[in-house]
Amino acid sequence: MKKPLFLSALGLSLLAAGCANLQHSRNVADPAVPAKVLAEQVCSTCHGLDGNPVSPAFPRLAAQTPAYLTSQLNNFRGHGRSDPAGSEYMWGLSSHLTDEQIAGFAAYYAAQEAHRDPGAGKDAALLARGKDVFEKGVPEQNVMACATCHGPKAAGNDVFPRLAYQHADYIVKQLSVFQNTHGGRPGTPMAAIVFPLPEDAKEAVAAYLEAMPD
Ligand code: HEC
Ligand code: HEC
Repeated sequence: MKKPLFLSALGLSLLAAGCANLQHSRNVADPAVPAKVLAEQVCSTCHGLDGNPVSPAFPRLAAQTPAYLTSQLNNFRGHGRSDPAGSEYMWGLSSHLTDEQIAGFAAYYAAQEAHRDPGAGKDAALLARGKDVFEKGVPEQNVMACATCHGPKAAGNDVFPRLAYQHADYIVKQLSVFQNTHGGRPGTPMAAIVFPLPEDAKEAVAAYLEAMPD
């Protein structure tokens, strides 16, 4: 039997509406919404459209390594990363993400260009001290050189995250989380490495990483 024309037309427009919704959806619990759409409609509120956030309260994701992005989204989803800001902001958002969506986010942010904050790197003495910590560690305290794992310019590699141009406040905060043995990021080499890192060295290395002079 031939369908009345208006019914087929309705079917078509519903189909079109369905597609349009998936392309504009903010539903982080719908496995059918592509990661790129969620990155643009949801994650952008805090992390910026291209992974370069305006506010230093949110970490820069642009140019981050895919392996690290994947591991952190898995950690948030599985509640393995439980520092206060991580659990407060990221647990709910990630709880229904599929592996495919996580891989999509990793590819999306890894392909973006990271920008340096215009205000970064004004204090030359602090930068010099930070460069020293990054490249040589703090031998008196048995702290390894950060560059050994994060790369000579902190561009990261595989599971070792990119740190260049990351907000200094966020870096200091994460170093403190690693130092707190009851803190929220267990199972990484970072806890033992930075445990003895003095406060002034944390601030200096964070300032250097945020500026990462050429
Ligand atoms: C309401 C604000 C907000 C939104 C929306 C948001 N995030 Fe986050 N995100 C944060 C905060 C805050 C942190 C840092 C948590 C911490 O300090 O541990 C974070 C951390 C992350 C990290 C870890 C970064 C690192 O360097 O370790 C990734 C990856 C991430 N978010 C991805 C996403 C994705 C993908 C989305 C969208 C599905 C998203 N975020 C949406 C606030 C947000
Ligand atoms: C032995 C290798 C190694 C060394 C040396 C090392 N790191 Fe790391 N670092 C890692 C790994 C692996 C991670 C990812 C941790 C995770 O998965 O939670 C990390 C994560 C970090 C993070 C969190 C990044 C983010 O986006 O949340 C910061 C900040 C950091 N390292 C800073 C440093 C500094 C500063 C030093 C030097 C004092 C240093 N690291 C030395 C391996 C290393």
